Amino acid sequence: MKPDTFMVDQNRQISIGGVALAYLAEKYGTPLYVLDYETIVHRIKDYQDALSELTPPGQAFYAGKAFLCQAMAGLLEQHQMGLDVVSGGELYTALQAGFNPERIMFHGNVKTREEIAYALTAHVGHIVCDSMDELERIEEEAARIGCQAPVLLRITPGIEAHTHEFIRTGQFDSKFGFGLADGLADRAVKRALTLEHVLLKGFHAHIGSQILEEDPFILNAETLLRYSLGWNQSHGWWPEVLNIGGGFGVRYQPGDHPPRLTTVVSAINELLHELTPKELAVPRIFMEPGRSIIAEAGVTLYRVLVTKSVPGGKRYISVDGGMGDNIRPALYQAEYRAAIDGKVGQDNMETVTVAGRYCETGDVLLKDIALSQAAVDDLLVVFDTGAYNYSMASNYNRVPRPAVVLVHQGQDYLWVARESYQDLVRADSPYAMTLAEFR
Ligand SMILES: Cc1ncc(COP(=O)(O)O)c(C=O)c1O
Repeated sequence: MKPDTFMVDQNRQISIGGVALAYLAEKYGTPLYVLDYETIVHRIKDYQDALSELTPPGQAFYAGKAFLCQAMAGLLEQHQMGLDVVSGGELYTALQAGFNPERIMFHGNVKTREEIAYALTAHVGHIVCDSMDELERIEEEAARIGCQAPVLLRITPGIEAHTHEFIRTGQFDSKFGFGLADGLADRAVKRALTLEHVLLKGFHAHIGSQILEEDPFILNAETLLRYSLGWNQSHGWWPEVLNIGGGFGVRYQPGDHPPRLTTVVSAINELLHELTPKELAVPRIFMEPGRSIIAEAGVTLYRVLVTKSVPGGKRYISVDGGMGDNIRPALYQAEYRAAIDGKVGQDNMETVTVAGRYCETGDVLLKDIALSQAAVDDLLVVFDTGAYNYSMASNYNRVPRPAVVLVHQGQDYLWVARESYQDLVRADSPYAMTLAEFR
């Protein structure tokens, strides 16, 4: 909903982590991503406490795709979290920050040979395998390196989570993983068990994102368990680990009611102990929360640069950021809440559409929302932007990406510097060189 340390003073100005947002905007410029340390740590502890109630204790792996930089990896390491990475770049970021590779889960539905080799030589704790082709590639790379790859097979359990269609991944026709219905998962288990350099550790299934119900998560764990029982019968093999993915929703809007983690975890604990045959060890449960750790910790600050009313009465305010720093409204019609700093709680609300600065009609951050009357130079604060904003940011229109600042107990810490124009051209070849290639 908002960072845990959100406060409004008598001047209607907002502070987070004991730091005034107006001060941060002056110091670092806008747009600016601000993250609250306390909120991140509270959410991490929620997962760790809930999963420690399981026997055997579970483990949470933060999904780096939601937001990752070296400092974030360092914070996660400090709190002994696991980390789910989906590319060589995320893996590199974590390793550079000194993250323990044993607590890294290497994901991705397409991994290059180089990425697989990188993960294996870095000794990551688990690799999640997504396809038959990849299974063979993992075997070949592990054989070449001379190691055994600890593998989870990604299963598509066919659970329909009620969320936006584009971020639903658990259906049978999903591009992700091995289907249960078409027998692919069964073939994958069979094949993995014959491979000399693959050590099959268990299964993974992620059913979607921003899920607001509890039942799909419980059903997901149950599906993995029941299929495991079948494979135990047919192949005499039993998983050490069941990874039920991420996807816990957050409260972007007042009507959003996130699922209760403790309810889900205790239901899964019951299932585990009811269904696991006495002679076998109860599998460990892994979870991969991204959004529910970081979304509410983040706000984005924008400067209002234009206000205008168009024929028909529609009122726009335009800000110095947009789809380059937050693609989610354009990509998923995601909705956010916002406030004008210094005017919080004023009566004179108006309905406005907040437009971005990018050259796309669809670059609209907030559609028809009630805001205090905004003027040029006001500071617009958009809430719950910690997840999938910075990590999905682009340089569209050659706009440098904003800085990321962490706040805690009245102090601010620069986590990621604002990109400069020089950064934008760093990887470009000068024109003369390009021309030489055509001669
Ligand atoms: C495999 C996997 N794990 C974890 C996550 C994190 O999901 P969320 O941020 O919704 O918790 C995702 C997100 O798409 C994912 O694809």
